Amino acid sequence: MLKIEDLHVSIKGREILKGVNLTVNAGEVHAIMGPNGTGKSTLASVIAGKEGYEVTKGSISYNGKNLLDLSIEDRAREGVFIGFQYPVEISGVSIANFMRTALNEIRQYRGLDPLNGAQFLRLMNEKQKVVELTDKLSTRSVNEGFSGGEKKRNEIFQMAMLEPKLAILDETDSGLDIDALRIVANGVNQLKTKDNATIVITHYQRLLDYIVPDVVHVLFDGRIVKSGPKELALELEKRGYDWIKEEYEQGKLR
Ligand SMILES: Nc1ncnc2c1ncn2[C@@H]1O[C@H](COP(=O)(O)OP(=O)(O)O)[C@@H](O)[C@H]1O
Ligand SMILES: [Mg+2]
Repeated sequence: MLKIEDLHVSIKGREILKGVNLTVNAGEVHAIMGPNGTGKSTLASVIAGKEGYEVTKGSISYNGKNLLDLSIEDRAREGVFIGFQYPVEISGVSIANFMRTALNEIRQYRGLDPLNGAQFLRLMNEKQKVVELTDKLSTRSVNEGFSGGEKKRNEIFQMAMLEPKLAILDETDSGLDIDALRIVANGVNQLKTKDNATIVITHYQRLLDYIVPDVVHVLFDGRIVKSGPKELALELEKRGYDWIKEEYEQGKLR
């Protein structure tokens, strides 16, 4: 589904990603971990197509297409969903209206009829249950005055509504209490199918107590320097990141 090869990315002339290789297949959940400032959010931003990132080398292919050739909108239409660490606030636009517009846009692109009001409400009610989101929240403006937990619930709710093929969640556990964490993780687990894939980017192992990844990667100094099964996350929790740094500096890691 996603194949990243030798990806080099600079921000304002400074190289942040220095040759990332990553393959994600349908049906898989990948976790990307690593210390702060190693380029995790940069990787998510480049996949999303955000401005300000210069790809100087390498490629990203997504379902056989050159992802880097697609506009932000087309990436979303093609089923790429990125939940951000600091989601934007959209004042005056209710979540319901925002979602209906976004969903019908994607349906149109896929050659499907738009959902009418009743169909949309039914879908919304069904999907809200995934994140235990109350009706009250969906009538509020997007992210305005949301607590950290509410933002994250809303993000997973959006994911449930849009049914992306590839979802990338950046630091979903930042600022979440344990209940919100569990709800978000349950949402991710419930939405997992054999046809979609999720990349969870996180600094902490805690989230991975609830989301069981198929593969864990460590991003360090702009490269994925280590990959392994879910136990790697536990090892990182126990040992921290210092040993990664040491082994990396000794040339023991790629
Ligand atoms: N918009 C930006 N302008 C300048 N430097 C940035 C910007 N965004 C990120 N960086 C730098 O890129 C590096 C990687 O950042 P980031 O991808 O956010 O790391 P992580 O998500 O792993 O903590 C950091 O050194 C950060 O300071
Ligand atoms: Mg980050």
